[in-house]
Amino acid sequence: MSEADTIYKTDALIAEDIDAYLETHQHKSLLRFITCGSVDDGKSTLIGRLLYDSKMIFEDQLEALQADSKRVGTQGQEIDFALLVDGLAAEREQGITIDVAYRFFATEKRKFIVADCPGHEQYTRNMVTGASTADLAILLVDARKGVIVQTRRHAYLAHLIGVKNIVLAVNKMDLIGYDQERYNSICDDFRAFVREAGISENFTCIPISGLAGDNITSRSANTPWYSGDTLMEHLETVELNNTDDQSKAFRLPVQWVNRPNLDFRGFSGLISTGSVKPGDAIRVLPSGKTSTVTKIVTLEGELEEAVAGQSVTICFADEVDCSRGNVIATADNPPEVSDQFETTIVWMDDDPLHVGRSYWLKLGTQMVSATVQQPKYTVNVNTMEHLAAKTLELNAIGVAELATDKPIVFEPYTDSRALGGFILIDKITNRTVGAGMLHFSLRRAQNVHWQATDIGREEHANLKNQKPRVLWFTGLSGSGKSTIANEVEKRLNLMNRHTFLLDGDNVRHGLNKDLGFTEADRIENIRRVGEVAKLMTDAGLIVLTAFISPFRAERDMVRAMMPEGEFVEIFVDTPLEVAEERDVKGLYKKARSGALKNFTGIDSPYEAPFNPEIRVNTVEMTAADAAEHIIRLLMPLK
Ligand code: ADX
Repeated sequence: MSEADTIYKTDALIAEDIDAYLETHQHKSLLRFITCGSVDDGKSTLIGRLLYDSKMIFEDQLEALQADSKRVGTQGQEIDFALLVDGLAAEREQGITIDVAYRFFATEKRKFIVADCPGHEQYTRNMVTGASTADLAILLVDARKGVIVQTRRHAYLAHLIGVKNIVLAVNKMDLIGYDQERYNSICDDFRAFVREAGISENFTCIPISGLAGDNITSRSANTPWYSGDTLMEHLETVELNNTDDQSKAFRLPVQWVNRPNLDFRGFSGLISTGSVKPGDAIRVLPSGKTSTVTKIVTLEGELEEAVAGQSVTICFADEVDCSRGNVIATADNPPEVSDQFETTIVWMDDDPLHVGRSYWLKLGTQMVSATVQQPKYTVNVNTMEHLAAKTLELNAIGVAELATDKPIVFEPYTDSRALGGFILIDKITNRTVGAGMLHFSLRRAQNVHWQATDIGREEHANLKNQKPRVLWFTGLSGSGKSTIANEVEKRLNLMNRHTFLLDGDNVRHGLNKDLGFTEADRIENIRRVGEVAKLMTDAGLIVLTAFISPFRAERDMVRAMMPEGEFVEIFVDTPLEVAEERDVKGLYKKARSGALKNFTGIDSPYEAPFNPEIRVNTVEMTAADAAEHIIRLLMPLK
């Protein structure tokens, strides 16, 4: 068996035993914690030690571990505790932890779930993931190095994410001869930082050695000057905050509608806060419809009461519309619904935030499109200074306004992690690019309402005897977009159709004269043109647009704004060499000489459409032929 196989087998064993294990320890309270530290701070060794001392290592794991320790262990001892935890082969190769590994163990007093969070700065994502459900964070520092940037960063992130207890574990005390003064000065450093950063959470310092076992489960004779709890005592006795959740107002984000047969209809999900009983008046958000709870069903039968942390199915007295993403709440104290917010966002992707671009926003079971504005500021985690920023780069933490395309049900993150925490997902790569916290809804969202009008897009279109559409021409500068669009419009005009041509160079003289050619400006350019084109189709027109529109994400955004079938993407597929050869406006020459920056195709990207409705090749076709071809494909026009 290869080394990797052994490790995965060990992981699978743990997973299989979790259920049986949790059952045995059902009556005990559960503490979820994370461990954070830099590479080499000894996290894995510490967790391994906690697991080992709580006797939660299964027999076969132990054998595999001993065999592995002999083979690859680096710490010159019989059992290398780090090997217990370093679940991924890649980590062993690189010497860094690259994913969140969850481990379970228990003592007489409590059961624990520990998320091991990697220290490397590029893995902020994992830290955020691990911390999002944690009650406590252990920040490991190497006693020889003291508090470093990573420590501050992790403390600040833990605070942002709402981890209520922080333990500063000063590790490797054996390597500094259990020096009390050194230990005190590390604690003082951290205390000063916590004060400066406004971190209000409880924090505790403990001098330990994961390797030698000092102050982990038993008090160490090497630190007679330390009178506090051992790490394990602290974990066993620290106050849990989930009782808080139960005293809050009732909220249940709906995961799915349970309808096994025609006689039963229930709504299933995990209660995030509060409690519920049959007979309670509830309200479904965002619709605001009310009803009464008739029963609460679980796998173990019906309940008289259910509380935060329980997964249940709830039935109502009335037929109320309720689906995945809705929130069931106490009728007289429901959460807010809004589509504009102030937020804190932690950026987790190599590709920076594109201001104005549409991302997926996932908040619990709700999924909507969202755009982020230019950040108000970012936070320098070292100095706690607020810095001006145009965007958010990898690992940046910033405050920014955010708008969603549909109203969502939410609560401020400080009141509810479940209804205030969200992630942002790139629509094209599907990567999670950011994690965020909602602060509050912007008042302007509450005061601007949609005004209903009697004459709508259908009436406008009927009068013009045509189906409104956007013919979206995209392609390089000089590819022939404007020329072909002009030819198409002439033909439509001869056919008595009502049209309007929006052209990049022209719109940039008026509506968009404040915009240049940076990525952010191009995104805004296309957003505005998309909105205008949409209004014009609402007026019943066939709109032609001729913009480079270099990014797929923004073209897709405009597509998503339009009713199905009304957005026709026309790719004017002219190779760069040909466009450059033509160089109608002399701009390619300027760009090549360096006199013009950010020129599409030269030093700014063009993302060709994957599946345009129509493609025209201007090397093989004249503009007139291309126009004929397009008109043929558009027929019928009604
Ligand atoms: S887009 O990228 O934001 O869609 P748009 O179509 O509005 O661009 O404008 C492109 C036109 O602006 C080009 O045809 C060209 O005439 C002019 N232009 C000036 N500077 C640039 C540049 N850096 N990159 C591309 N086009 C430019």
